[in-house]
Amino acid sequence: MCGIVAYIGEKEAYPILINGLRRLEYRGYDSAGVAILNGELNIYKKKGKVLDLERVVNGMKLEGNIGIGHTRWATHGKPDDVNAHPHLSGNHRITLVHNGIIENYALLKAALEKEGHVFETETDTEVLVHLIEEIQRQDDLPIEEAVRIALTKVVGAYAIVVLDRDDPGKLVGARKASPLVVGIGEGEYFLASDATPIIEHTKKVVYLNDEEIAVLPRQGELQIKTISNEVQTPFIHELDMEIERLEKGGYDYFMLKEINEQSQTIADCMRGRLNAAEGWVRLGGMEQYANRIAQADRLIIVACGTSWHSGLIAEYLIEDLARIPVEVEYASEFRYRNPIIRENDVVIAISQSGETADTLAAIELAKEKGALVYGIVNVVGSSIARLTDAGSYIHAGPEIGVASTKAFTGQVTLLTLMALNLAYRRGTIAKSYYQQLLNEFEKIPQKVADLLTRSKDKIEYIAGEVKDAPNALYLGRGYNFPVALEGALKLKEISYIHAEGYPAAEMKHGPIALIDENMPVLVVTTNKSAYEKIASNIQEVKARKGIVIAVVTEGDEIIAPMADYTIEIPDTEEPLTPLLSVVPLQLLSYHIAVMRGCNVDQPRNLAKSVTVE
Ligand code: G6P
Repeated sequence: MCGIVAYIGEKEAYPILINGLRRLEYRGYDSAGVAILNGELNIYKKKGKVLDLERVVNGMKLEGNIGIGHTRWATHGKPDDVNAHPHLSGNHRITLVHNGIIENYALLKAALEKEGHVFETETDTEVLVHLIEEIQRQDDLPIEEAVRIALTKVVGAYAIVVLDRDDPGKLVGARKASPLVVGIGEGEYFLASDATPIIEHTKKVVYLNDEEIAVLPRQGELQIKTISNEVQTPFIHELDMEIERLEKGGYDYFMLKEINEQSQTIADCMRGRLNAAEGWVRLGGMEQYANRIAQADRLIIVACGTSWHSGLIAEYLIEDLARIPVEVEYASEFRYRNPIIRENDVVIAISQSGETADTLAAIELAKEKGALVYGIVNVVGSSIARLTDAGSYIHAGPEIGVASTKAFTGQVTLLTLMALNLAYRRGTIAKSYYQQLLNEFEKIPQKVADLLTRSKDKIEYIAGEVKDAPNALYLGRGYNFPVALEGALKLKEISYIHAEGYPAAEMKHGPIALIDENMPVLVVTTNKSAYEKIASNIQEVKARKGIVIAVVTEGDEIIAPMADYTIEIPDTEEPLTPLLSVVPLQLLSYHIAVMRGCNVDQPRNLAKSVTVE
């Protein structure tokens, strides 16, 4: 949600900033802008994508080796050129980029207006830069001190970078509840919302903590202090990320690349954690708290969006295999509904980005109430990874497509490992079944690869047949119900076709009224346990002339003849089915969206990392 990048050093800043913005564009693409300091402050900003900004500055000489950049997901003020960042102080001396929301901006604005400040935009960010100006002006303060004092007056979330025209020897960054990473190069520094713009320049990074301010000097050491003026010692991390993983690698879209990477990313998530031959499943992050988790009265899963769907699969897995009661909560609801959290509860927070504001707030609440919080996160070093008591990374690598795919299967893989580990510890499943699940689990990466190879043409064909439908219904039972929800979410996110996921049997309590000859109904039918029941649900759809697309197990002879189209997936044990059955749904949405001319990597109005509530 808004991407920030900044540079100070000996090199030309503009190419570094624009490259960085391209990498961060998944965070928002309503407008983009840069400010470059070269004696004078030059600001260029444009509504639209980073490419629109590049068109504006094309042919201009943008020289200067200090600058800041921003790609915006609009909160305050419509997405236009004026509201685009960077924003400027009234005296045109200070410029600032911001990710987050200043909640008390109206009060601050009114006070500043009384002092004579005039505002040109509708944004909360402009208020912040005027506040810094005002504080700096009153006592003739250095910029970092003016920023620090200003931030003591601010309520809300922010990651900011500030540039003072009259103090060109430094950049100042600060964060609270929105991420900010410092990159330390040779005689140069970077600041960015995540490590992706930094990785091609240096592997040394410092993740800022909440309410910390970093001063990046042109020459000399990085300095960090808190907004209450306590000096902090920077902790330098070494990044473990390959640059190729940030490129499309020959694919038209990141989403397609990420769908196709899943056999690899599932294997990466399992590596060192599962050994079927020796009969064990281990999660390093769990070791220290294994007994507490295994003996928890309840597991409460908090997450948003796709991560919430993987949480729902975890509920089926953990209750089925490990017999621990599980509740799955939307983080945004959990935090505001006065939930009951006891010390013997364990809260599991699931997040691809590790930055989702609601999930972060839910974790804080759980910690306050004394629960142990376990994080399941993709982005290494992210806020959720650092805030939780323990946790596991899913190791899916950078996910750039806004619609989550490989992170979903990574989360489900991790949660399956967890369920199996807990089941073993608690002795809740027969040894032979446990072993059978381990054997099958190890085969999943290969089965995902086979499924992608075998079904890709068929899925593209089906996409062509249903791409013009205005609505779609996704049905599944048991383990495949959350898969139906995720399939429907993928379709609506990227193709803008209205889609609903439903438990197959619930269909007759409402959605059945919508079914006619124009309604594609995608049914995931691979459950052995409720096979006949799903077959009946399909008959109910067919009786109303719905167009049935069935995801079936290879060799299925009963459901396949009833359906208009079938997509076969390899056979597996039922608890492992979601890892296979979701893949064709991702691919179907992808092809439909491409055929409808949609930008699947950057769907309208969405952002990948939602750092506002
Ligand atoms: C946004 C993204 C989704 C994601 C959700 C939760 O809505 O577009 O793809 O599932 O946030 O994000 P998280 O990073 O916490 O998994």
